[in-house]
Amino acid sequence: MTALFTADDLTHATGGVMTQPFHVTGISIDSRTVSPGDLFVALATETGDGHAHVADALRKGAAGAMVHREDAVPDAAPLLVVRNTQAALTELGAFARTRFEGAVVAVTGSVGKTTTKEMLRTALSACGPTHAAAASYNNHWGVPLTLARMRPEAAYAVIEIGMNHPGEIAPLAKLAAPDVAVITSIAGAHLGHMGSLQAIADEKASLLPEILQGGTAVLPADAPLFDRLRQAVPRGAKIVTFGESDLRGVRHDADGSDIHCIVGGSEIHFRLNAPGRHMVMNALATLNAAWCLGADIPLCAQALARFSPVAGRGARRPILAGTATLLDESYNASGASVRAALAVLRLLPATRRVAVLGDMLELGDHSAREHADLAGAVADSADVLYACGPWMKYLFNEVAAEKRGLHAPDSTALAPAVCAAVRAGDAVLVKGSLGSRMGVVVDALEKAAG
Ligand SMILES: Nc1ncnc2c1ncn2[C@@H]1O[C@H](COP(=O)(O)OP(=O)(O)O)[C@@H](O)[C@H]1O
Ligand SMILES: [Mg+2]
Repeated sequence: MTALFTADDLTHATGGVMTQPFHVTGISIDSRTVSPGDLFVALATETGDGHAHVADALRKGAAGAMVHREDAVPDAAPLLVVRNTQAALTELGAFARTRFEGAVVAVTGSVGKTTTKEMLRTALSACGPTHAAAASYNNHWGVPLTLARMRPEAAYAVIEIGMNHPGEIAPLAKLAAPDVAVITSIAGAHLGHMGSLQAIADEKASLLPEILQGGTAVLPADAPLFDRLRQAVPRGAKIVTFGESDLRGVRHDADGSDIHCIVGGSEIHFRLNAPGRHMVMNALATLNAAWCLGADIPLCAQALARFSPVAGRGARRPILAGTATLLDESYNASGASVRAALAVLRLLPATRRVAVLGDMLELGDHSAREHADLAGAVADSADVLYACGPWMKYLFNEVAAEKRGLHAPDSTALAPAVCAAVRAGDAVLVKGSLGSRMGVVVDALEKAAG
């Protein structure tokens, strides 16, 4: 493989000093998954210090390590010594962005970022080499890492940008310098840290001023506070919107949707193999972004038939020896995404629909209301509710008595009850914030024989 960064690139980008010259073919921040030829970047985070794993990374074939301390590393190791590894990783990302001649799409929003990133990867790959992160790498190390891994010869790069706290998006947006910036949605995820929907909209909108001259903002026409988004688009950038009014006809089924819509002024028909209205919206965001890049829209749309939901975000699997269905949404939860998942549960063929919900976290003062407000959506889609966590108690108490399965303190306590209750013919939705550990219920269901 050709070099991703030459020795000159590495020192020039970071201002660091090499103990011996080396080039690298990839970048890794985790010694457990390092590939031969990688630059191992020793990041120091809350969860650990990468400097302790430099020797391991080099043993596994890393071409060298980027460090800001030399005490814990082996003698005569190939090192790029910098002042601070986090800052230097960001500088490598900036270097890679500056030399990149393809088009960069940045994606943010309250829900649907990773799904839209994956749809863009699927769609744009039909038109040219496309770079996107393997996972939801959307934070202060994920975005620089994704940019640094971008090969100069790619035609497109898709960068997910996320946030938990105010002020996080702007510097990452500046680094990504997008040709096209997509905002998928505005909804009450992270309300606890953000305080209000206005603050959330403004935070997402802080992606927009970084759109390059002549670039485009792709905005969700139906989102609350749409005007706040529109007003943040800089002069010199265009605006393209997507939403319900682009749809000419949609037929939803359990496996996906047949969509007839308008993109870039032209009518298209296509099949999306991921069920639910929210997936249709993500597909519209994707195709509008692709259109802004001048991609072949019929080709992109056709490619979306090959898209399938990401693990933990709507992937479906058989359970109970194939007699029942699991809808695995255990990766995260907010009001908008629980409603979307319940709507998909309703589409699934089943004799009984079971909702298994864990707490939605990071909602602060809004927690009780955001949970209780889901009662209508549960009534519409589920025959029975199993729930866990202190906040889900507010929802559990709100649903009709005949739909109450059980409320338990946590997912470990809930899992056996769910396994005992499921039977042939059921469709079972499992969803909750990652911190609610609903994966415990998923694992138990996958082992249950029925
Ligand atoms: N446009 C949307 N509206 C509502 N929910 C959505 C949307 N797109 C995805 N979801 C749901 O939200 C959750 C998170 O999806 P994901 O694509 O990982 O978003 P993010 O990267 O923004 O966290 C999943 O349960 C997914 O099914
Ligand atoms: Mg994500």
